[in-house]
Amino acid sequence: MDPVRNPYAPGAGQRPPELAGRDRELGIFDVVLERIARGRPERSVILTGLRGVGKTVLLNTLRSQAISRLWGTGKVEARPDQPLRRPLSAALHMAVREIAPHHRAPDRIDDFLSVLKAFAIRSEIGEPPAKMRDRWQPGIDVAASSGRADSGDIEIDLVELLSDAASIATDVGTGIALFIDEMQDLSPRDVSALCAACHELSQTGAPLIVVGAGLPHLPAVLSAAKSYSERLFRYLRIDRLDRLSADQALCAPAAREHVDFEPKALDVLYDASGGYPYFVQAYGKATWDHAPQTPITADDVRVAAPDAEAELAVGFFGSRFERATPAERDYMRAMAALAGTDSESDAAVPTAEIARSLVRKPASLSPARDALIKKGLIYCGERGTVAFTVPHFARYLRTQPTPEG
Ligand SMILES: Nc1ncnc2c1ncn2[C@@H]1O[C@H](COP(=O)(O)OP(=O)(O)OP(=O)(O)O)[C@@H](O)[C@H]1O
Ligand SMILES: [Mg+2]
Repeated sequence: MDPVRNPYAPGAGQRPPELAGRDRELGIFDVVLERIARGRPERSVILTGLRGVGKTVLLNTLRSQAISRLWGTGKVEARPDQPLRRPLSAALHMAVREIAPHHRAPDRIDDFLSVLKAFAIRSEIGEPPAKMRDRWQPGIDVAASSGRADSGDIEIDLVELLSDAASIATDVGTGIALFIDEMQDLSPRDVSALCAACHELSQTGAPLIVVGAGLPHLPAVLSAAKSYSERLFRYLRIDRLDRLSADQALCAPAAREHVDFEPKALDVLYDASGGYPYFVQAYGKATWDHAPQTPITADDVRVAAPDAEAELAVGFFGSRFERATPAERDYMRAMAALAGTDSESDAAVPTAEIARSLVRKPASLSPARDALIKKGLIYCGERGTVAFTVPHFARYLRTQPTPEG
């Protein structure tokens, strides 16, 4: 069918033509926003899940939800080895600019912006000060203040800064929501500071929340930073779509183009995608391009599947596999071989077994394991196990030729 009208959208953070199966999360967030608006205590929200389940897309949707209630919002995408201070400053700047026009006292906004600027340009204690040449400018037109949020200790500074931001939001009778994607990539120090700030804000009922998204081990990262984090955040596990939602993700956009699926076609599609949103989009897209006419049949899906798989092998699996060094690839191949077949292929594998199968001492494999965790390819599961962050990755690896030697 006409590829120009193909509605499906496989791609990182690509807004799907139909956001299926997330009503529960949207409903919960609505309540959170409403409660905070009424000064009720609420916890910040954390979305966790595997690669491609739709965390970024959901995070963006929650952001729109906050914007439609006239909240100030900003977003950060955390990166390994990048301190939070500057990206957070930019996000908060954006959030405050959104609500500033509703504020009656522009002086208060300027006061806040000078604190924000002081926070932004402060280097961390223990870090060398930036050279004049590459000193970064946050793009804030007021002079930096001194004495608040500029100690250089991110934990102290963040508590002060976010409290001040929240009080601006209180003035205008709204709130601020900060969205942090790939949150597992924050440094322990930044995680700890964020937890401390959220803790402080929740105690005073301040209208500022953090909404994080990250890989399945993010809760462990947070509780390693602060033991009270389990009570501080509300964890929402974002999972693959159930059959009904996966069908809806495919059928609703097609119906808008007057295209139908035969029930058997949907069976084959669900079998292939396992309900993982990225795969739903990828198989949907290839099927659409191959199908000669409506209704789309099971055979159309079978004919299109190799194309979808080839596309995924390059864009979804291959691009990630290439980030690994040869030693890390060996580690993942051993994991894949041990992970069991098909439906269980995303199961966790004991690290001791990986060492045994590679005939290595467990300690000698720690560097490879840690590097893979840092690259976001695997994560530590229950005691002494690791699992792939990428769904169906074990299956993909088993189809790859092993290098000679
Ligand atoms: N609820 C949904 N219904 C249908 N399609 C969805 C849904 N959520 C996400 N998708 C699609 O799935 C794909 C992956 O979404 P997204 O990038 O948000 O995943 P992610 O969890 O952030 O992945 P990563 O961990 O790699 O960043 C996109 O193509 C998106 O359009
Ligand atoms: Mg994402």
